[in-house]
Amino acid sequence: MTYLSNKNIVLCVTGSIAAYKSVYLASLIVKEGANLRVIMTESAKEFVGESSFSGITHNEVITGYYEGKTELSIDHVSIAKEADLIVVAPATANSIAKIALGISSEPIVGTILASKAPVIVAPAMDGDMFNSKQVQSNIKILHDLDMIISGPEKGRLASGINEYGRMTEPDKLLEEINKIFSKKKDFENIRAIVTAGATIESIDPVRFISNWSSGKMGIAIAEALRDRGAKVTFVHGRMDENSINGVKKIPVLSAIEMKDQILKEIDNNDLIIMSAAVADYRVKQKFEQKIKKEKLSSIDLEKNPDILAEIDNKKIVKVGFAAESENLIENAKKKLSSKDCNLIVANDITLEGSGFGSDNNKATLVHKEGCDDLPLMKKSELAHKILDRTIEYID
Ligand code: C5P
Repeated sequence: MTYLSNKNIVLCVTGSIAAYKSVYLASLIVKEGANLRVIMTESAKEFVGESSFSGITHNEVITGYYEGKTELSIDHVSIAKEADLIVVAPATANSIAKIALGISSEPIVGTILASKAPVIVAPAMDGDMFNSKQVQSNIKILHDLDMIISGPEKGRLASGINEYGRMTEPDKLLEEINKIFSKKKDFENIRAIVTAGATIESIDPVRFISNWSSGKMGIAIAEALRDRGAKVTFVHGRMDENSINGVKKIPVLSAIEMKDQILKEIDNNDLIIMSAAVADYRVKQKFEQKIKKEKLSSIDLEKNPDILAEIDNKKIVKVGFAAESENLIENAKKKLSSKDCNLIVANDITLEGSGFGSDNNKATLVHKEGCDDLPLMKKSELAHKILDRTIEYID
């Protein structure tokens, strides 16, 4: 068995001289045991023949929409749904622009749009083209879409200049492909609750108390756990987006509802990571009718339960968050002990480009053995760093 055995990989070949390298790449991928589908643009056919790929892959090559070469006969959708990975190699400036903007005029972009699989893009073009503002801004969009950009490498280009523009060599691309499938499954057989988003505490049928939590950090953690093999129950309040698959989702509104749902589930779990921003107080008296503004000069509040602190099952690993605007580490250490957690993820919410709503976060992991101060990074990356530390507390 190899990491690629029985994996469905889609190789998208666009119109560059480097397309000849993709024939060898296709052969390397097939030798590793993957089922490979090739999609070519019309201009790619100017450089390599369809039959080279169909001969190597034993699958028909897709070159246009509506060719009816798969069972579903909407080829790009059928291939997209089955794909474990999509590799665009070589990727021309034209294809990169279309992928960045979602211009699905041909099946490569259609497939990428219809798939949830990771995407590797290996640009190949003239060095000055690659360095142009247009290509660089499209590459940035691909980065932001979490696509993996491989290369280009420096070397002699078709124009004769020695610059960055060469497609990554097939052996190196194969290594990068393997890396994607060799990711650790160190949370296999572990059941975890992840909370995310903001709770809502109703004042009356119109008004509520809440906070700015977007849910992005919780989504990143739940996805990382899922990808590392855990069974995830995702208890979430209000979030900016709700795009997570492969987990059991339990929507809640208030802190009390969140607590009730967690307590129902907790004994079937090994781990809880509470990234939700739970309101500390709720409205004391429930108003069934809208309060007239003349009477709304003050609202009586009562304290919500501290959910994390109340979970006292010693077998459960507890990870909490501390969003602070001052004395970050000191406050996080206090929470580590008052909530009896294994780990507190401390965020300074005053830092620019980090925290609520952002795709990035800067955190310090505070635990009994000390503190790990991490640099600003994507929330998806931070999620894995949190899990790398959390796994140490799981028997
Ligand atoms: O005390 P503070 O709200 O700063 O603690 C933050 C951590 O505690 C977070 O992990 C949050 O999800 C959790 N929490 C909780 N119940 C509350 C308030 C916060 O479980 N009522």
